[in-house]
Amino acid sequence: MTTTAEPAALLALAVEVAAEAGRVAAEGQAGIDVLDTKSSPTDVVTEMDRAVEKLIRERLLAARPGDAVLGEEGGADAGSTGVRWIVDPIDGTVNYLYGREDWAVSIAAEADGEIVAGVVAVPVRGDVYTATIGGGAHCNGERLRVGPAVPLELALVATGFGYDADRRAHQAEVLRSVLPRVRDIRRCGAASVDLCSLARGRSDAYYERGLNAWDYGAAALVAREAGARVGGLRGAEPGPDLVVAAPPGLFEALHDLLEPLGADTDG
Ligand code: IPD
Ligand code: CA
Repeated sequence: MTTTAEPAALLALAVEVAAEAGRVAAEGQAGIDVLDTKSSPTDVVTEMDRAVEKLIRERLLAARPGDAVLGEEGGADAGSTGVRWIVDPIDGTVNYLYGREDWAVSIAAEADGEIVAGVVAVPVRGDVYTATIGGGAHCNGERLRVGPAVPLELALVATGFGYDADRRAHQAEVLRSVLPRVRDIRRCGAASVDLCSLARGRSDAYYERGLNAWDYGAAALVAREAGARVGGLRGAEPGPDLVVAAPPGLFEALHDLLEPLGADTDG
């Protein structure tokens, strides 16, 4: 890895760009009228998603020409430096649309195929979650640590649901079996915020099917660096099939509950 691809340097750039993107998106949120947006076929949120991602791409590539970028709205641009940025301009678009607080700008830096730095900025809450590989996870500069591995029946478990109706029907079936086995469920509406909240000890565990790399890339590093185990089922890496995150000990208990339920399938 070259000096310019040091995780700390990549993180510093990501934080600066996420702060500007977060300011622009937060200003835009104030002007959105949910009813107007619902009745309009050209969705204001989509416009804002696109505008914010364009800004992020421009800023990243101005600072580091030749890097690759994968973004939720703009797709994949190839690069030549071995560094790839994984960008979700607004994670939690439905929350954003409804004037709620839990939405985030998420930027991860991958070097030679491994995520080495990530920032999840939650502008309305004033929270900036950061992590570098081996360097720990922080929120607004304070070191993060997951909570203890509580027994499954005492665990506050966060999850989320995809947009596809058939997938949701099975996710509801899985949830029907999970709910009586845990303390309670939370659905905040932004996967990146869920993973960062786990890193902060504000939930005990998290699972979700159907996420994309931009939803969890930066936040999974935050959770891992805060001490969580983050993976899929049967030893798989976290991915679109399933992301499970919890402190070691609780991870295994949640895994063993989810596996026979087919939580990594659409039923
Ligand atoms: C969504 C959010 C939501 C999760 C969905 C994601 P988006 O991302 O993270 O919490 O349940 O699976 O697609 O569409 O708001 O960027
Ligand atoms: Ca997203």
